[in-house]
Amino acid sequence: MAFNFINEQLTARHQQGLYRSSTVMSGAQGRLLKVADKTYLNFSSNDYLGLAADPDLIKAWQKGAELYGIGSGGSYLVTGFNQAHQTLCDQLKSWLRVEAVALFSSGYSANQAIIKLLLKKPDLLFQDKLNHASLMEAAALSDCKMRRFKHNDVEHLESLLTKSNRECTIDANKLIISEGVFSMDGDSAPVNDLLTKAKQHDAWLMIDDAHGIGVLGENGKGSAVAGGLDNNKLQIYMATFGKALGVGGAFVAGSKELINYINNFSKPYIYSTGLPPAMAYTITQAVKMAETQDWRRHKLNSLIRTFRNTATNLGISLADSQTAIQPIIIGDSVKTLQIADKLKTLGFWTTAIRPPTVASGTARLRITLTVNHQEQDVVNLVNAIYRVLNDK
Ligand SMILES: Cc1ncc(COP(=O)(O)O)c(C=O)c1O
Repeated sequence: MAFNFINEQLTARHQQGLYRSSTVMSGAQGRLLKVADKTYLNFSSNDYLGLAADPDLIKAWQKGAELYGIGSGGSYLVTGFNQAHQTLCDQLKSWLRVEAVALFSSGYSANQAIIKLLLKKPDLLFQDKLNHASLMEAAALSDCKMRRFKHNDVEHLESLLTKSNRECTIDANKLIISEGVFSMDGDSAPVNDLLTKAKQHDAWLMIDDAHGIGVLGENGKGSAVAGGLDNNKLQIYMATFGKALGVGGAFVAGSKELINYINNFSKPYIYSTGLPPAMAYTITQAVKMAETQDWRRHKLNSLIRTFRNTATNLGISLADSQTAIQPIIIGDSVKTLQIADKLKTLGFWTTAIRPPTVASGTARLRITLTVNHQEQDVVNLVNAIYRVLNDK
């Protein structure tokens, strides 16, 4: 029968405890999450700054719709680039101190766009082993050669770069890509050291800061700034609006030439409908809040400290993460699912992250903290994890 693999692979996923499906949530993002008739404390959201259902942003969306309408009506190069988009681009430039930006409908599409646009044969792409699927998949679809360096291991990157200098032709371009904050591990990339290596080997550095923007660095300017660098020192800075900024969509920042090149040659940019202008207007307001409301970052950092201190005092083994993403590595996928289910019966929603999203044998609970939580929520979660892990 044609396409036999569909049923075969779905059955295999069930058998391995790796089957995925969406759960229908009701209501808005927040401290609590409602599924069917039950309410849980939500420890599985990327809404780190608590903006996704902020009343001021809901009003902004309504006002944006009144001012600019809902749909953009076209791609950015036809009639889909509205004043609301221009204002957002200007806002991003002044907040992040970058030269130019291009908006995308999602981080996934921005990452695909960059790799497809910039790399071909005989170019070389160096990626951290734990980079996001959107980056890995784009590389698999490109004609360039990809080398994966061990996670956050600059020495390994150095050895791959040196080896490639011997192997590749003089005209090969080299791009290094790392996440700023790793989405499943919560640890940060050594952005400064990566940039030094890039300079030494005449390579470009791109940072995907989906999980760093808004939460790290002075005024939430992200991972590079947290590491003491200006964003404009990176050749490519990509980040999303759907996590700490609470809305959706993404952008790529870089030199004016790079952004003009995207405008002229990037198919995912050229042939895709622009973000709804009401959404662009809302993101501009979210950026203003992320930039100026330091209290959100202070509160988040305090919750992170509470989580880590409480867990350490109970002897729970933690990952090396100082961010809002706090994974607890379990290993076995079925066991991880069982733990997540037990936590649900106690009223806590965490997500079991399993292969292929993470490496085999490293299934984990991906716990995320947000400004919506109270300190006591975090203490209660850690106590519940302790009870479930120790079968008490
Ligand atoms: C590191 C990273 N890059 C890119 C993306 C994709 O962004 P978006 O959700 O806007 O498509 C994600 C989202 O999960 C991510 O974690």
